[in-house]
Amino acid sequence: MGALWLLNFVLLAIPIGTTLGVLLGLQASRESPLFEGDPGFGSGNGPGRGPLRDNSVTKQDPLCNQNVGVSPLSQGDHYTLNPNPWGWTVGDPGNICLNYTTFNNETYATRHTAPEWSVTWNYRYDDQAVHAFPNALLAVPSLPARISDIRGIGVDLEWSYAVGNVTGDPGTSFSASEIEEHTISTNVALDIFLDSERDRSSNTTRASTEIMVWFARFGQYTLAVGEESLGVGSVANKTLDDVVFSLYNGENQYGQRVLTWVAEEPKERFNGDIFVLVDELLSMDRAGFPSSTDYIGYISVGTEAYATTDSALTFHASNLAIDLQLADS
Ligand SMILES: *[C@@H]1O[C@H](CO)[C@@H](O)[C@H](O)[C@H]1NC(C)=O
Ligand SMILES: *[C@@H]1O[C@H](CO)[C@@H](O)[C@H](O)[C@H]1NC(C)=O
Ligand SMILES: *[C@@H]1O[C@H](CO)[C@@H](O)[C@H](O)[C@H]1NC(C)=O
Ligand SMILES: *[C@@H]1O[C@H](CO)[C@@H](O)[C@H](O)[C@H]1NC(C)=O
Ligand SMILES: *[C@@H]1O[C@H](CO)[C@@H](O)[C@H](O)[C@H]1NC(C)=O
Repeated sequence: MGALWLLNFVLLAIPIGTTLGVLLGLQASRESPLFEGDPGFGSGNGPGRGPLRDNSVTKQDPLCNQNVGVSPLSQGDHYTLNPNPWGWTVGDPGNICLNYTTFNNETYATRHTAPEWSVTWNYRYDDQAVHAFPNALLAVPSLPARISDIRGIGVDLEWSYAVGNVTGDPGTSFSASEIEEHTISTNVALDIFLDSERDRSSNTTRASTEIMVWFARFGQYTLAVGEESLGVGSVANKTLDDVVFSLYNGENQYGQRVLTWVAEEPKERFNGDIFVLVDELLSMDRAGFPSSTDYIGYISVGTEAYATTDSALTFHASNLAIDLQLADS
């Protein structure tokens, strides 16, 4: 189990645009015994656990302009935090920095809670639509999971988005005049990849299908794959946690089917079972749509950084917990 988990973890933690640095970065964040015992249930300050863990809080150095993820130690579910500027090349204009805060006691609000993180980015309009997808990736040994074994994907999320290199008040986002003044294009999204083959399902370029859930989208250029123009071309609607999500269906440049549920209004505080939206796709029984024998190999939450005309923008995940529930757990 230990070796399997390690293999699993390393595969999962490698983002798009991977380099050797990814592995080095993971090693650097593994100076403490991350993989000791069952990753879900730590046993406190037992022998070999190193120095006693107090309740101190550390604001870590920002991760800037890198594809290297860090996986802070946790007694509960692990998350890999990654600025992930996959649509940006060193030397191009633009900047992204991801800040995060860790607890020395490795015990967050719930077993499923990620360390608090924020990201400040600054990209301009050019040929590239999306420059980065900074995100928190759920890095647990129960993924990939067969859809028929999944009972729920509980998501508890509170975020803010603000203009500048400052964190907004939790639960607030851009005003209409800010979106216009700075020509803001971005979203807040949960991202799932799946495939009929277990191994491919965690690989974001090889997986056959992507399901996205957009909790917000800002700006007229932030269109889902398959969306003809803003709000045009939805194939279904579904209400969850008092939000109407509209479904768009399309194919991206890698030939992957992309199914995007877009919240009609920004939802800065969401608490619901995202699996309902996956299940809805299964029940549509359409050619090329997911089936219950497919595997989900990747689940992350972040923001797609398109562009602005000036200033930097800061997304802050003040609370994020993903509770993946399997049939036999
Ligand atoms: C761990 O540390 C955090 C931050 O100081 C604190 O809020 C939390 O209550 C602590 N948890 C435990 C179990 O001591
Ligand atoms: C935010 O401000 C800090 C300190 O001024 C700076 O180090 C960092 O690079 C800035 N981040 C971005 C994305 O501009
Ligand atoms: C990120 O961290 C840097 C360095 O500690 C700090 O200057 C900056 O204000 C932080 N950014 C946010 C949005 O908190
Ligand atoms: C995903 O698949 C591509 C294409 O086969 C491969 O180059 C890449 O290394 C894979 N990524 C991971 C994380 O395995
Ligand atoms: C979904 O709801 C939106 C907004 O009310 C509406 O414009 C669209 O036609 C609906 N789509 C479908 C397929 O019913």
